[in-house]
Order: sequence, then structure tokens, then C-alpha cells
Amino acid sequence: MQIQSSGHLDFNADVRRATAPVWARLSDVIPEVEWPVHAPYIARINELKRERDAVILVHNYQTPEIFHGVADHSGDSLELARLGAEAEAGVILMCGVHFMAETAKILAPEKTVLIPDLDAGCSLAAAITGEDVRLLKQKYPGVPVVTYVNTSAEVKAESDICCTSANAVRIVESLGADRVIFLPDGYLGRYVASKTDVEMILWEGSCEVHERFTADEIRSYRNSHQGIQVIAHPECPPDVLAEADFVGSTSAMIRYVGERKPRRVVMVTECSMSDNVAVEHPDVDFVRPCNLCPHMKRITLPKILATLENLRPEVRVPAAIAERARLAVTRMLQI
Ligand code: 13P
Ligand code: SF4
Repeated sequence: MQIQSSGHLDFNADVRRATAPVWARLSDVIPEVEWPVHAPYIARINELKRERDAVILVHNYQTPEIFHGVADHSGDSLELARLGAEAEAGVILMCGVHFMAETAKILAPEKTVLIPDLDAGCSLAAAITGEDVRLLKQKYPGVPVVTYVNTSAEVKAESDICCTSANAVRIVESLGADRVIFLPDGYLGRYVASKTDVEMILWEGSCEVHERFTADEIRSYRNSHQGIQVIAHPECPPDVLAEADFVGSTSAMIRYVGERKPRRVVMVTECSMSDNVAVEHPDVDFVRPCNLCPHMKRITLPKILATLENLRPEVRVPAAIAERARLAVTRMLQI
């Protein structure tokens, strides 16, 4: 079957048939009126990615039509980094933000790494530069630098080791140091500091999505929704995390729902994730605060299709920076 090219994307019988299994899963989280718009893109993208020898990696914050419609693999930052390194396809298309695509390129320099919008940034990655790290290293000579993956390749290149929200405590403790420089998320750093005796020198970057949650808001969910489980991402402020029943990376939060099957839950994180998880757990009542990441939301089905058609925009990292950044990322993956 040949689904038509992007110039003529109709919701015809072939498209309806090809996308019926996806619609069966998404009908509770996507309005029916939107499906004829999404379905032709999903059908064409799934056809074209095979022709292009492309693997589509999708972060947990992408919208449901992307997450459930076109992903070959989905996950948190750590899982996407591993998947990028292991991918057999010649082309990696990253549906996430720029630092995620850069990490894939650092780990797989021989592959073509694409991102549907080069401007899909991150407030944490924007909070620190390579020059900032060089100055910190001068101020604290010999203190190891642990860098959250939500940073540019240049910042990774100045670092001893990377971490993600899934492994930050383990990585900090693996160094055997009395103190570390931890960059750039001040809230994640405080969370890690609460779990270890290692002294943490912090940088005050923050996630523009998670910093908006407040402890009052969490208490109001508890008061108005009896028996609710509160699960939060460690990029949230400390008083928000203190109200949570569980703190973990995006994938750890997803696993928590799958394993504990709470009757009612609020995921204190980016908005789309609850929709994506609700698809798998129709019996769980999700209370959904909607803090959207404007960077993640720059990725859309039409842009994914255009990217596959043109094999652009491509993410490139200068070889000298990539080589040094690779050391910091692979050290993390080995722990
Ligand atoms: P995870 O690694 O937990 O998926 O977090 C990535 C991110 O950008 C959180 O805001
Ligand atoms: Fe960056 Fe926050 Fe968006 Fe994650 S949710 S990509 S940390 S701005």
C-alpha cells in the first residue's frame, strides 16, 4: 500500500485501515475531530521511516499522537541516550529537545541525527555555558564536575561525567569524592544532596516547567482528591518534592504507575506524560495539572514528516567537542 506524499494527505480508506490500531489506543485521549488530521501523517511517517532506514526515538513528554503513533522507542533521557548508542538504523530522528539529539550524535557520530525543530531548547541547557564550567573548575581545582544531560555538548565536554534524573545519586556516589560540582539544575542538585553525604557545589539553573509547581498546589490535590498518590520529577522545588509519595525520572514515574496501580494519581511533571500513561492504564484516575514544555511542543507530526522527507534539520557537533563530551556520557553509561 502506498500512502500519499505530504502534498496530498487525505484521511482515506487506506489511511483509516493503517492507523486503526493506533486510534483504538488513543480514542480516550485525543478528540475524535482531531484524528483525521493526525492519522494521514502517522501513516505516511511510518511508511517513510522504513524507506529512510530511520529509527524514531520519542521522549515521554511528546504528545500522544507522536508517542503512540510513530515511536520506534520511547523513554527518559537515560534510555534515549542508550537507545541512540545501540540503534542499528543509519538515521536517528529524535522527537525531544536539542540536547537529547546532541547526546545521540555524540554517541553515534557516524549516524545522521535529525531533530524536527532545531529551536527545541531547554531552560536548563540555556542556563550554563562551557566558559561558566571552565571558571568553576578554576575556582574549585580538582573537584569533579557532574553534569546533568540537560546541557549543551560544549558543557558536557568540560565535565568529568554526566548524569540523568534516573541515576544522579548513583553517579555522584560512584566518584568516591567528598564533594562534587553539580550542574546546572539547583533543584535536582538539592534533591541529590538530600540523598547523599557528598558535598554538592550547585549551579542555580532550573526547569521552567517544574519550577512552576508549588507545595500549596500539591496539598490542594490531596485535599480535593481522596486517596491520591503524588509522584514528582526531581526537577521540582524541594517543598514540592517533600509533599510527594514518590520522586523519580519520567520513566521511573511511569513504572511506578504500572507496578503500584494507584486508584488515583497526579504526575507532577510535564503535561503530556499523563495522557501517554493514561492510554496504558484506563483504570487509573489521572489528575492532570497542565504545565507544558514549550520546547517539547515544538515537535509536531508535520515537522517530523518534513524532516524525514528532507533528511534535515541535521544535528552536528564539532568533532573536538564531541570527543570530549563522549567521555563524560560513556562514563555515565558504564555505571
Ligand atoms: P527525564 O530524564 O526524567 O526523562 O527528564 C528529562 C527532562 O527534560 C525533564 O524535564
Ligand atoms: Fe528542559 Fe524542563 Fe522542557 Fe525538560 S521540561 S526539556 S528540563 S525545559
